[in-house]
Amino acid sequence: QEKTTKITINADEKSPVISKHIYGHFAEHLGRCIYDGFYVGDSSSIANTDGIRNDIVEALKELQIPNLRWPGGCFADTYHWKDGIGPKEDRPTIVNTWWGGVTEDNSFGTHDFLNMCELLGTEPYLSGNVGSGTVQELADWVQYTNFGGISPMSKLREENGRKEPWKVKFWGIGNEAWGCGGNMTADYYANEYRKYATFISDWENTGGLLRIASGASSDDYNWTETLMKNIPKSLLGGVALHHYSVIDWKKKGDAVTFTDAQYFRTMEEALKMEELVTKHAAIMDKYDPKKKVDLIVDEWGGWYEVEKGTNPGFLYQQNTMRDALLAGATLNIFNNHADRVRMANLAQAVNVLQAVILTDKAKMILTPTYHIMNMYKVHQDAKLLPLAFESPKYTFEGKSLPAVSVSASKDKKGSIHVSLVNIDPTKDNEVEIDITKLGIKNVSGTILTSKNLRDYNSFDEPNKIEPQIFKKFKVKKGLLKVTIPAFSVIVLEGK
Ligand code: AHR
Repeated sequence: QEKTTKITINADEKSPVISKHIYGHFAEHLGRCIYDGFYVGDSSSIANTDGIRNDIVEALKELQIPNLRWPGGCFADTYHWKDGIGPKEDRPTIVNTWWGGVTEDNSFGTHDFLNMCELLGTEPYLSGNVGSGTVQELADWVQYTNFGGISPMSKLREENGRKEPWKVKFWGIGNEAWGCGGNMTADYYANEYRKYATFISDWENTGGLLRIASGASSDDYNWTETLMKNIPKSLLGGVALHHYSVIDWKKKGDAVTFTDAQYFRTMEEALKMEELVTKHAAIMDKYDPKKKVDLIVDEWGGWYEVEKGTNPGFLYQQNTMRDALLAGATLNIFNNHADRVRMANLAQAVNVLQAVILTDKAKMILTPTYHIMNMYKVHQDAKLLPLAFESPKYTFEGKSLPAVSVSASKDKKGSIHVSLVNIDPTKDNEVEIDITKLGIKNVSGTILTSKNLRDYNSFDEPNKIEPQIFKKFKVKKGLLKVTIPAFSVIVLEGK
């Protein structure tokens, strides 16, 4: 019998609120995310609103997605927004050079995206083109979307059918500037950023714009250091970070038939997020001790080989319990670092990488990752409850990782939520949470697990993995004892 892990939850008054924006998503013009994903066109037989699939809108509304990043990714630095406005039949085409070399007809553009965000009840996060665009082009985009007064761009917007500005708050200044965004050095990009940020004006002086610098790839700490050192804080709202859980970029492994060793590696990469956000945040602390600048992990998730028979440039992959565990553990890390991590975007929302939704013509499935996002939404804008514990180990071939990950929060109504993940695929783990100081009378729980680690929801069996009521816990003398089954994610609610 393994010993029970003791967890102490602190109802610390000073703890930060977990920004709802940690639960953000990402939609790129990549593969079947936009076209044949979100957007089917208004002549489609699939139920839609101005071409946007109604079933996807409903599913994402249920998740209360707080923000949606668009149009890329790498695509963003090739995108010229003026190609995507005005009558659809007049819009020019471009070639999507990063993703499959397909012809982009620009039928989904600024109005389509921003109106879709209104349908979803979510905040748009626009990624500006720095790599192949101009300062003027990006400044015009801000004026087009945000200015309510008389100006050339507001006039153009009105001519295109939209009177009121959308008031977009989140603006990315380029994407992966160290790579597909222009292969820039950190110093060069910091200067470019300063220039772009200067001309992206908050047209109505509401102080409402958040300018986000293209961030580091995983452990490129020099990138963060250079940006934090060289960009005046008055121009900097957030610094991004991208980290994918990839086994090996040359041999990413199958999304479903992964080996035990590949599973371990994926989890190792996922849990590395703890070290990454800790170290990037420490660098930010040096230059911004008051924590004004947000750390924004605007791309994260599992990345495997594409599904056999699909376009390699479309990044379509299935989503198993492995992905659910990856998501649960990563979101716990973000929650626990809520003092600095204030926004994040899972890559990507529909049909690409670690998607929450997969579609096949008229069919749509919710992946295990979707269910995690749904279970965890209780943490959005709730107050973090810091906790302390030492995790039991998940050992594989002489190497080990912490098996259990936990985060806890108190929402505005006073309910407490604790999310627990056990990544160990072979062993249940028992934890004992001291809830004496939390004033909890009733506890209930939800669990996501399955018979096999490699299980997934398919178009033939769409509900194979679904959250279930969880009851394997006992409360005695202020101690909440929980058995977390192997490869499972649990969210407990205490009232
Ligand atoms: O999400 C897929 C791609 O991964 C994005 O376009 C890019 O920013 C990253 O390299």
